[in-house]
Amino acid sequence: MNERWGKLRQKFLEVYGDAGGGKRLVLVQAPGRVNLIGEHTDYNEGYVLPMALDRGVLVAAQRRSDKTLSLYSMDFDEKIQVPLANLKYLPEDGWANYPKAVFWSLLNAGHKLEGYNLVISGNLPQGAGLSSSAALELAVAYAATALGDWPWEAVPMAKLCQRAENQFVGVQCGIMDQLAVSAAERGKAIFLDCRSLEFEGIPVAFDKAQFVVIYSGISRGLKGSEYNQRREECQQALKLLQARNPKYTALRDVGVVAFERHKSALSGRLRQRAEHVVYENDRVLKARQALAQGDAEAFGKLMTRSHQSLQRLFQVSCEELDSLVEIALQTPGVHGARLTGAGFGGCTINLVEKDAVENFKETIARQYKKKTSIQAQFFPCLPSGGVAEVGAE
Ligand code: GLA
Repeated sequence: MNERWGKLRQKFLEVYGDAGGGKRLVLVQAPGRVNLIGEHTDYNEGYVLPMALDRGVLVAAQRRSDKTLSLYSMDFDEKIQVPLANLKYLPEDGWANYPKAVFWSLLNAGHKLEGYNLVISGNLPQGAGLSSSAALELAVAYAATALGDWPWEAVPMAKLCQRAENQFVGVQCGIMDQLAVSAAERGKAIFLDCRSLEFEGIPVAFDKAQFVVIYSGISRGLKGSEYNQRREECQQALKLLQARNPKYTALRDVGVVAFERHKSALSGRLRQRAEHVVYENDRVLKARQALAQGDAEAFGKLMTRSHQSLQRLFQVSCEELDSLVEIALQTPGVHGARLTGAGFGGCTINLVEKDAVENFKETIARQYKKKTSIQAQFFPCLPSGGVAEVGAE
């Protein structure tokens, strides 16, 4: 058991004593994720290519017999307790709404629940777009499953957590984050078809290049952002395209050639949104191939084109993210750079020659600070495994 686990376990005993009366204590770890390419395509039933990070959320959990949910966050030093029969979204509950949402979703799915004591600790920056919320959701779902009498299945549990976020928290997110966290494999990125939910691990093994994630320092909350509005715009664009081809059921069905033929059905913003989604799907398919072939140059070019499209057509970038990308692209040894996640702040992902990484970090830190007065934060980016139990006693 590593040091973080030791601390979590000790905290658990401090907060709950032996209230569990010798019941099983499980320790679960769930990673954050970074998306390599395929942005705002998941809710259009398209393709994405995320990978799990070697940072995330830890949860210690034990059953209690009084149908009460007790949640303690080490990061906020805050305890919230609520009867399972009374799970409601409360803005003042902040972080605790996510675990509550998962238990609500488990109950809705017909699982029989007792009560639970949880201690939670994370090392992902919140609001950085690295899916701290999906990591928390999946860690909680996995812990409840480990203490329950139903089997763990990566896809149904990812969907259950997505429903928790859609219906309880009120964010209309797609399936990418939850599925990446639940199904990731060490050393691989996941190519996911968001329609069939079939996925395939693709080794991240560029000879000389590696991914570097940079946090812009601009935190982004999905709630209250324009995320839901973008979803809506994609639906409106789809409706107009359906007049040309009634067989379309999602923007995913519109290929590049068909889009060029039918795009006069759209104008202004709606045309821009659809154009991004159609070409981004095409880029993901090409990126999947470039990744499998270890072609860093081709992969990087696709990343940069993805950013330009997110900036100009989908319009979810911001000055700080654009600065990070611009500086990166002027730095030697960089194959490509783009914002990652929903946008409106958060992080960029960069594909950089390994022997250029030190100079890259130094250059970005200096120039970004000069331009924005913000200290950029860098995250190591090793493709990690998905949610898992890492201990029990
Ligand atoms: C957020 C959502 C995902 C996805 C991305 C954009 O991370 O949670 O479902 O839509 O934005 O690609």
